[in-house]
Amino acid sequence: MSVKLPVLDMRLERIGQMVRKDSVCADIGTDHGYLITYLAVSGKIKKGFACDINEKPLAKAQKTIAEYGVGDKVKTILADGLCGIENESVDDIVIAGMGGDLIARILDSAPWTKDERLHFVLQPMTKADALRKYLCENGFEIEYERAAEAKRFIYAILSVKYTGKNTKYDDFFLNVGKLPECKDAEASAYLYRKGTKLLETAQKIENALGENEKSISVRSMAQRFIKASGKAGE
Ligand SMILES: C[S@@+](CC[C@H](N)C(=O)[O-])C[C@H]1O[C@@H](n2cnc3c(N)ncnc32)[C@H](O)[C@@H]1O
Repeated sequence: MSVKLPVLDMRLERIGQMVRKDSVCADIGTDHGYLITYLAVSGKIKKGFACDINEKPLAKAQKTIAEYGVGDKVKTILADGLCGIENESVDDIVIAGMGGDLIARILDSAPWTKDERLHFVLQPMTKADALRKYLCENGFEIEYERAAEAKRFIYAILSVKYTGKNTKYDDFFLNVGKLPECKDAEASAYLYRKGTKLLETAQKIENALGENEKSISVRSMAQRFIKASGKAGE
């Protein structure tokens, strides 16, 4: 018998794929609740928490959870960030669809997340570089990244664990993280778009001021992005 599942776009679908099977999963900033409901209905997770800071989105999530009949598996919690699940035993924590700086602040406000048993799936809409910097400087390891397209934008999705060891980084890593190792076609497109945009910036600087130290460094970073995309020469 086929089960009715919420329809996920590519971004939410990939986030869901990165959640560990049979985990207890918390979706922070759940909004519509589609992801956590999908994970519960499909049987991927044992139990879920749908958390949001605002009442209206949480009411939407409650509606979705009820519609798909998983109220016994998914609990809704009105709370700021991770405050509502501190005393629950969760395995996987998804924080998606927010700015990278907000995701970093949410993690930072919950020191109990510095636990090697936890697994995080983080999807910044903006400022992915700020999030990567926070993770590298605070003992979190980016295990791997995937990419997904939604409404013509491409987003990075990070699989993260706490190890207690800080990671060295440079500007290139903050910008692209582990996407150069990712086989998704969207990862290559993400790198290529970033590279071509930066090439335009280098060109603008050169048109205004002639070639200078800044334009040379911007052009060199752009070329690194394009090379990493595997589309050099296109
Ligand atoms: C753009 S929606 C993202 C929904 C869903 N996670 C997704 O990726 O499609 C952002 C949600 O995060 C919630 N939010 C914003 N700040 C939050 C915080 N500090 N703690 C919990 N939820 C928060 C908002 O109320 C909103 O419902």
